[in-house]
Formats: sequence, C-alpha cells, structure tokens
Amino acid sequence: MRALLAGRRIVVGVGASLDGWRVAELIDHLAGAEVRVVVARGADRFVTLATLEALSRNTVANDPLAVGQAGLSETSSIGAWAELLVVMPATADTLARLALGLADDALTATALATRAPLLLAPSMDAAAWGHPRTQENLARLVARGARTVGPVAAGGLAPTSSIVAACVAALSPQDLAGMAILVTAGPTHEAIDPVRFLGNRSSGKMGFAIARRAAARGARVTLIAGPVALATPDAVERIDVESAREMHHAVMAREAAAACVIKAAAVADFRPSEVSPIKLKKGAEEGMALLLTRNPDLLAELAERRRSRGAGPVLVGFAAETGDLLRHAREKLARKGCDLLVANDVTLEGAGFGFDTNRALLLGADGVAESLPLMSKLQLADTILDRVLHLVRG
Ligand code: PMT
Repeated sequence: MRALLAGRRIVVGVGASLDGWRVAELIDHLAGAEVRVVVARGADRFVTLATLEALSRNTVANDPLAVGQAGLSETSSIGAWAELLVVMPATADTLARLALGLADDALTATALATRAPLLLAPSMDAAAWGHPRTQENLARLVARGARTVGPVAAGGLAPTSSIVAACVAALSPQDLAGMAILVTAGPTHEAIDPVRFLGNRSSGKMGFAIARRAAARGARVTLIAGPVALATPDAVERIDVESAREMHHAVMAREAAAACVIKAAAVADFRPSEVSPIKLKKGAEEGMALLLTRNPDLLAELAERRRSRGAGPVLVGFAAETGDLLRHAREKLARKGCDLLVANDVTLEGAGFGFDTNRALLLGADGVAESLPLMSKLQLADTILDRVLHLVRG
C-alpha cells in the first residue's frame, strides 16, 4: 500500500474512545502518506497528543478556535489541505455531531472546513450501535456521501488493515464503478492421491493485487482463487477452487456476465490421468511413471466462446516465462486469442512467483509492446486496469 499512499494528504480524526490507542497503529500503517491529526473533545484521555504528534510528525489540532496560517483557523487550514478525512474511532457522539454539522471540537470543525471525502470507522458498544439515533445519524452521513468501514460484531472497530484499505479506496479514482471483473489467482493443485498433488509456485499475490485495486476503483470483483494463504481483499467476492477443472467450472459459469476476465492464475496444463483413492506406496521399484492428461485451456476456451457468441468480455492473459519474453508473449497472445497479455520473466529477481513486486511486458492485440520497470504488484495491477478500462470502453 505504501506506493499507493505516497504523498497523499490524510487527516485522521480521533474520537474519544477506548479504541483511541489503535490510531497509533493506523498512522504507522499509513506510512508514505502525509498525516495530520485532529481530535474530538476527550480523545486525549485515551491516547496522548504527544504520541500522535510523534507518529504523524506534525502538531495535533485539538482546539477549534486555534489560529493557523494566513489568519485562518488551524482546522480550516487542515480541512483545505486534506485529500481525505478518516474518522477513527467514530464514536456515537462523534457521528451525532458530524450529522448535525456542529463545529465545537477540532474534529467536527475540520469536517465542516473540508470538501475531502469522509471515511468513518465506527466504534462503540453494542447498545449505542443498535440505537436508532445512531443508525439515523450514520444513514444521514452516508446519504451525504460518507463512506464507512466496519464496524465488526455490533460496534467493534474494523481491523486496521481494512481501515487502511478503505483509505486507499477512498483516495482512488472510481473509474471502474460498476464494472464486473472476473479475476483468477494462485496455483491449481492436481491430485495424485489423498496426500499428494502436482502444483506450482504461484502465491496468488498478483491476482489478489488486481482484485484489490479493481474493487478499490469501484469494480464489482469476483476472485476465483486456487489454494493460497491470502486474506480476501475488501469488497471482493471470493470463490475458492482446488484444481484446474474446478477453476474451469467456476470461470465458465461467470464469464458471460463479466466485462473483463483477467487470468493471473497459474493453471496446471496437465493432471494425473488417475487419482489413486489411497496413498500410493513406494513399492520395491526404483521409480514410477505418472501418466498425465491435458487440462482444459481456460483462456483459449474463453476466446473461442466469445468468437462463437460474437460478443463477450475483454480477455487479459498472463504469461509466465523464463526468457525470450517478447517472442513467447507474441506466440501466446496469438494462440490464446486474448486482448492483452501480461508477460513476466519469473527468473528475474523481484518478479513473478511469491514477490510483492513484478516486472512485466504488456502486449496488446495490435502487436504494440510496452516494457514496464520493476514495480509493486499493486502498481502493476493499476497499470493493467488502466488498459482494461480503455479496452472495455472500446
Ligand atoms: O501468484 P504470484 O506468486 O503473485 O505470481 C504471479 C504469476 C507469476 C503466477 C503471474 O504473474 C503469472 O504469470 N500468471 C500466469 C501463469 C501461467 O500459468 O502462465 P502460462 O504461460 O502457463 O499461461 C498463460 C495464460 O493461460 C495464463 O493467463 C493462464 O492463466 C492461462 N491458462 C493456462 C493454462 C490453462 N490450462 N488454462 C489457462 O487459462
């Protein structure tokens, strides 16, 4: 997330709540962004201003009447500076004050002074959360355009990682709003017997990064994931599969409803022809031969379905190569019939399997290739999605 937050101007509004200490964690996770802190009355009883100043490397605004730069109040200057105001913890009292448009503490005064998006992370006890007044206040704020993250379990503050992801989403352009995007990620496991399988080194990070960024930019994302150990990105529908045939089934059932299918998964080309119902024994022989059967090629089939229907989703394929990238990419794009091919050389340091970064060559159906530098998988995801937007719009 660091690269996506770099240089962004975020104001953290701290409500008076036991969860105030979690703000320190949030500011730490917003590393890369410039952070200013404004506090509600009483917030400093739960987290010290000195802690917030040290972490944000800025003075903290706690007085709505304090004078700032150019004769403006301090909260007006901060409000005008902000690209995002995130209120955490958003207590029942703070929600009520925000809904009424009060300006009697630094947090609410900043909220009135800014035109930046407002993100609310509610935190209160279950009784306050369930109270109709609280729900009314929140509904009023949402109707005015506020976004929310959480709460979890009737009033509990959302996890910090979710709040950070919501900040990134609130700062992202909503240029994919409403677009249905189907993403595949991770490896497939092809069973040999109840304990063994054929697999590959895909961690799922590339596909999950695409799903995360697409959802943050407003797309309706379905993520079909092979066996990976990654958390589901916020606002993404996830379907877990094991084998290439399960992935095939999941993709084919959903492709027609998608505006774009992005196939970042490393799908096994072959599976064992027979799956032993019991664990295979070593036996006396020196070795053993495993007979393999070809798996369906999902990407090629998607292109074929689109051809026969005369309409269908934009198709983005990946190519995992070990050299001679452009030649293999051209050959794969022609063979699979996709609109955009993202080729990565998985032998390069920092690229391909398991890394948080990648280095790719983008090849369009028009034959134009663009070689990208090493970047985070989230940044590469955005670059691919920019191309997708262009292709979907035609
Ligand atoms: O998951 P990470 O650890 O983040 O690593 C990312 C990655 C290296 C897995 C990713 O960047 C990548 O390259 N994914 C595609 C890997 C792959 O299977 O490449 P391929 O060249 O074998 O396949 C080409 C394309 O056809 C891919 O879009 C693949 O999803 C698709 N395919 C392949 C086989 C098959 N039977 N059906 C398919 O649809």
